[in-house]
Amino acid sequence: MSGTVWFVGAGPGAPDLLTLRAARVIAAADVVVWAASLVHADVLAHARPDAEIVDSSRLPMEGVLPLYRRAAAEGLTVARIHSGDPALWGAVQEQLDLCRALGLAVEIVPGVSSFTAVAARIGRELTVPEVAQSVILTRLEGGKTPMPPGERVREFARHGTTMALFLSAARSGQVQAELLAGGYSADTPAVVAYQATWPDELVAHCTVGTLAATVKENRLWKHTLILVGPALAAAGTRSHLYHPGHFHGHRRAEPAARAALRREGTDRAVSRAGESNASGPGRSRPAGPGSERADQPT
Ligand SMILES: C[S@@+](CC[C@H](N)C(=O)[O-])C[C@H]1O[C@@H](n2cnc3c(N)ncnc32)[C@H](O)[C@@H]1O
Repeated sequence: MSGTVWFVGAGPGAPDLLTLRAARVIAAADVVVWAASLVHADVLAHARPDAEIVDSSRLPMEGVLPLYRRAAAEGLTVARIHSGDPALWGAVQEQLDLCRALGLAVEIVPGVSSFTAVAARIGRELTVPEVAQSVILTRLEGGKTPMPPGERVREFARHGTTMALFLSAARSGQVQAELLAGGYSADTPAVVAYQATWPDELVAHCTVGTLAATVKENRLWKHTLILVGPALAAAGTRSHLYHPGHFHGHRRAEPAARAALRREGTDRAVSRAGESNASGPGRSRPAGPGSERADQPT
C-alpha cells in the first residue's frame, strides 16, 4: 500500500482565492491537515463529510509523522494545506523528503502567495518597465532562522528594486535600518499589509523612512508583509509586450511602429551612454528598449 500527500497552497486568506485544483484535491482527500492559525476555516467546506480533519497548528513535525506513516500503510490520500504558496516559507521541503522516504507519492498545488495578494490589494504591478524588473522575496535575518551568507537585507537592498519582506515585521526598526543602509532612499514608497484579504486586513502606505513608525503605530508584528521599492509609486513607461511594434510567435509587428520602437531604443541607448559617462559607475538601470526578445504574454 502507498498513499499520496498533496501539499496544497490555500492562498493568503480569503477562501475564494483557493485554486480550482486545490478545491478538487481537498474534496478528494481522506485526511485534510490544515493550520487553523493560518488558513481560513471555510477552506474546509470543500472536504468530504467523512474526511478526517487534523489541525496542525499545535503539532510539531513529529505530530504529523504518524499520520504520514498511516497514509503509507493504508494507502490514504492526504491534503496538507499551507498558507499562501507552499514554495515559500512553509517548512514543506522537510515534509516532502519525509513523505518520499516513507514511499508516499507527493504532489504540490501552488497557491496565491501573500506578496502577490498584497500587490493586488494596493492595485500595483511590482515590475514596472524601466523602474523595477525584479522582485526580491526575503526576510530579515535573526530569530530562529539564520540567513545564508550573502543574503542580508542590506545586500539585497543595493539593487534598489521591488522587495517583499516576509516574517520580519516584529523587527521593523531593523528592517528600516537595513533598507536604508543598503541604499533605498528614505522617501522610497513602502506598504505594510497585515492579514491581507482577511476580514481584519490592514494596509498602510508609508515610505522606507517611516516604515518602523508605521508598523509600531499599528501594532503589527505577525502575519504582516512589507513591500518596498520605487515601482510602488512609479508610472513607468510603456511595456513593449503589447506595443504594436513588438512581435512574437502569435503576433506580427506593424512596420511603422516597429521602426519607431527601434529609433526610441537607439535614442535611449545614446542618452544612457551619455549619463553613465557623466556619472561613472552607479546604480543606473539596464537598458530595456531595443530588446528583440520574443516575450509573449502569459
Ligand atoms: C510562514 S510565511 C508563509 C508565506 C506563504 N507561504 C506565502 O506564500 O505567502 C508567513 C509570512 O507570510 C506573510 N503572510 C502570509 N499571509 C499573509 C497575509 N494574508 N497578509 C500579510 N502577510 C502574510 C507574512 O510575512 C507572514 O509572516
